[in-house]
Amino acid sequence: MNKLYEEYYNKPSLKSARKRKNKHTEHIDFNAHINIKDVGQGKRYMIQTYGCQGNEADSETMKGILEALSFKETQREENADIIILNTCAIRENAENRVFGELGRLKKYKRENPDLILGIAGCMPQEESVVNRLLEKYQYVDLIFGTHNIHKLPEYIESALMNKERVVEVFSEEGSIIENMPKKREHHSKAWVNIMFGCDEFCTYCIVPYTRGKERSRDPKSIIEEVASLVKEGYKEVTLLGQNVNAYGRDFTDKTYTFANLLDDLGNIDMPRIRFTTSHPNDFDDETIEVLANYDNMMPHIHLPVQSGSNSVLKKMNRKYTKESYLELVRKIKKAIPDVALTTDIIVGFPSETEEDFLETLDLVEKCQFEGAFTFVFSARKGTPAASYKDNTPFSEKKERLMRLNKAINDGYKDGHLRFNGELVDVLVEGVSKKDDEILAGYTPHNKLINFAGPKSLIGTLQKVKVEEVKTWFMKGSLYEGTG
Ligand code: 5AD
Ligand code: SF4
Repeated sequence: MNKLYEEYYNKPSLKSARKRKNKHTEHIDFNAHINIKDVGQGKRYMIQTYGCQGNEADSETMKGILEALSFKETQREENADIIILNTCAIRENAENRVFGELGRLKKYKRENPDLILGIAGCMPQEESVVNRLLEKYQYVDLIFGTHNIHKLPEYIESALMNKERVVEVFSEEGSIIENMPKKREHHSKAWVNIMFGCDEFCTYCIVPYTRGKERSRDPKSIIEEVASLVKEGYKEVTLLGQNVNAYGRDFTDKTYTFANLLDDLGNIDMPRIRFTTSHPNDFDDETIEVLANYDNMMPHIHLPVQSGSNSVLKKMNRKYTKESYLELVRKIKKAIPDVALTTDIIVGFPSETEEDFLETLDLVEKCQFEGAFTFVFSARKGTPAASYKDNTPFSEKKERLMRLNKAINDGYKDGHLRFNGELVDVLVEGVSKKDDEILAGYTPHNKLINFAGPKSLIGTLQKVKVEEVKTWFMKGSLYEGTG
């Protein structure tokens, strides 16, 4: 690598990403930045997305920008002029997958030296990743992070026209960019970002570093976006944020909370509103009240608990206890009696004992979760927990994970069983993965259901009678009657 050249790189630093300075966030309009409209004429792009819904939403923006530059999407890597991997840094295995994929894609770069290979998302926010890419993956042309997607047109121009390698990652988040183009993946359901970043600093988590400080979008922009999605025929929105319950906490000019936002959105004619992810510590009574008040607020809440042990929760910096979590669950179930709760749990956090783990199993039983994402702790460089003493063998952690998953799977099945024989509303999303003749959709409680019906129903809301339940999905038949 040419040393002089490298000086022009703008590399990240986790240490500066940790800093939280002023609360003020600038809100900027995207349009001003697009000035090279036809650069993609006759060219194709492919974006591979890893990780959370936040990344899925970002990929839709990248696709929107590339299409505004006249690129067309392809699903075949051998036809692509640009391939971008939108990456996730949450656990080590997520990163390993991306490095493996980069190795695999090298052959396309060899076959077509003009191919632009890019890495975006959370991984480039880590200096160790950027250094590894610069040393061992020199064929990567484009490296940018989570804070500068809006600069993609410039980067594409440099890489494509000037054949320059672009490495630009900002560690300090800046503005909220409104009105970026989006190519939405689905036609009936849409992601709507309500905020970016996270200020929680759970000790195991890299997200506050890779996504920066909490910045909330202006309520007016969110409400307008949802209202225009109604006009375009969308039936469902999922409000996105790392901790949606912290929405509005960063406003310096007004008091406006997540509950206020839900209250305003409840009055819009959007049939289904969901949100993710919630933090138990910030989930307030007002939010519960609003959720119970509106029919378009879907009765499914994803409420990551992470552990049932108070000592582990403390070391995780989660700021609640097993008891206060159970109390919150009790309040939610009282206000929304048929609510479906799902969660995230980490096993094998440094120093977690068998007793701690049994507390988690006990909590799972008490909450009757109907689904969970479960993980073995993965040490993320730069986070406090990465240096905590950890003497539990990995084999024991895996064994805990298996025991936990068994309890969780029982919850999945029980969650389905309670709908057996019932009539449920289904947003028809497409055909079943296994059988082209069968339709698939989700109920208000976010249960997957398959049933026979014409493809013309895709994108509509239908009533379906549940006839059979499995662990992972339900089967039913289209209800032709009234009511
Ligand atoms: N190791 C394992 N799981 C993690 N998560 C976040 N960071 C880590 C980590 N270092 C899990 C949490 C979070 C979910 C998105 O990923 O459960 O809620
Ligand atoms: Fe990570 Fe905790 Fe923020 Fe969730 S709330 S993104 S787990 S730091």
